[in-house]
Amino acid sequence: MITKILENIMKEELNKLNYNGYTKVIKSNRPDLCDYQFDGVFKLASIYKKSPIEIGEEIVSSLNERGDFSCYFKEVNFVKPGFINITISDSLINELLIKMNEKEKFNIEQKNDEVFFLDYGGPNIAKPLHVGHLRSAIVGESVKRIIEFKGYKTISDVHLGDYGLQIGQVIYAIKKDNINIDDITIDYLEKAYPTISALCKENKEVKSICEDITKELQDGNLEYHKYFLKIKEVSGNDIKRIYKYLDVNFDLWYGESDSYNYIEEAKNIIDSKKLFKISEGALVVDVKEDTDKKEIPPLIFRKSNGGYLYGTTDIATILQREKEYKPDHILYFTDLRQDMHFNQVFRTVKKASITDANLEFLGFGTVNGKDGKPYKTRSGEAPKLDNLFKEVKDLFISKKPENEGMSLKDQDKIVNAIIKFADLQNNREKDYIFDIDKFSEVVGKTGPYILYTYLRINKIIENKEITTLNNIVYNDYDRNLRIKLIELELAFNNAFECRMPSYIADYIYDLCVIVNSFYQNNHINSEQDLEKKNNWIYILNLTNKIIKEMLNILVIDIPSVM
Ligand code: ARG
Repeated sequence: MITKILENIMKEELNKLNYNGYTKVIKSNRPDLCDYQFDGVFKLASIYKKSPIEIGEEIVSSLNERGDFSCYFKEVNFVKPGFINITISDSLINELLIKMNEKEKFNIEQKNDEVFFLDYGGPNIAKPLHVGHLRSAIVGESVKRIIEFKGYKTISDVHLGDYGLQIGQVIYAIKKDNINIDDITIDYLEKAYPTISALCKENKEVKSICEDITKELQDGNLEYHKYFLKIKEVSGNDIKRIYKYLDVNFDLWYGESDSYNYIEEAKNIIDSKKLFKISEGALVVDVKEDTDKKEIPPLIFRKSNGGYLYGTTDIATILQREKEYKPDHILYFTDLRQDMHFNQVFRTVKKASITDANLEFLGFGTVNGKDGKPYKTRSGEAPKLDNLFKEVKDLFISKKPENEGMSLKDQDKIVNAIIKFADLQNNREKDYIFDIDKFSEVVGKTGPYILYTYLRINKIIENKEITTLNNIVYNDYDRNLRIKLIELELAFNNAFECRMPSYIADYIYDLCVIVNSFYQNNHINSEQDLEKKNNWIYILNLTNKIIKEMLNILVIDIPSVM
């Protein structure tokens, strides 16, 4: 990685001068002056009680005396009051580009010693998937691809919500409507759930019957279990269809119900550590800590009526994962509002030493409409995902007449690109406004803009032979592009470390802006200097390889035309 290379050189120089300490090199925030900056001069000055000017100039002159100076640098200057500005050599840039092009995975450093278990998607069966389910699926899938690209092993689990009150409600409806088990269809479920859920809000008695059914199901009632399996099959197939459309894939299709086999064992472990307390008939674990800034209530393991809760199933699931897969990390992707729940669960399992895995809650914000409130259809409810896909497709098609003639496959790829790029470009934790109109445009920071750029470059390099790079960079547009390319690993590592696909989305977008201005200002097809032309084809080819691979990490596939 470019900054690492420069940091190693700084380390050598500081050793030579008998300074010890800070060697960080950062991207310059004045690209008109230099590419990178060493920002440790002030720190060294305060450690060694010298003036920053003295130390800065000392380092710069030592650097300039290096025999291999020109292999790495074009220019290194000290700038008052305490900065070292670094412009790297063209030969270093090209050497790095050749490595990126030739080595696997663009020469991004590989790791492979840990197992990451990812819990995302998490839809509740028997309820239709709506826009609120989008982020967990997309962000989770993308982070999984980032982790795999770094070389780690991943295991992904959809963790269906399949044992909650909604199942009791739907079973109640099935019985009331006198529906034959074989006649339970997705259309029926999509009508039954909202009806009963509304009824439960008005009618306490019905709600309590539904709660009893749920509890009996969990306790092993065979008749209810048959309905449960059927509901799970019908609803599960529909969920699979939607995830397939989104290219979101799971190794495991476990659900909350699968954790029930582990509840007893989890309970015994917690009990053996003497962590349980009885509170108003319920079995609870105190998880608050002295340093807490807000009140963290106890985790309820078992309700006073003997029923289990969301926290119970998550603890039992961690035990199951520990026993079956021994992951080093478990990552959860849900709405930020589940922060407290995961805090309680993580504290409980750590206190009880149920797992050594590093547990991470990766919360995300809400998808809002233009009014800043959670995204709604015109009729006022959260749109079902199927309807959202259709709405985006219709809007895209309406943008120009040619779009209608595109193959269905390409149209679906574009729908995916619009939705996913809109989502993944945001800092995961922030709410964002889902403005379909804006995100379907071919200009601006949108999926279509990226796809369009890729396809345009592809036209230029199509059927051209890819040779190699010489030692020259031809002009500023060219240099900007090459520098951006060698910075892929910086963006990628940020995305990995922060579990934030937005670093990659930002990178691809910036790369597209730079490559657009590169080819608008350099006329590649008519270029007479063959060597120059070959160099440019080489870097455009690498640019497109990167765009394609990074789009894949954002779960976006490229259509054949646009
Ligand atoms: N089904 C849950 C919900 O809809 C999300 C599940 C997330 N994963 C977990 N292990 N709790 O809120």
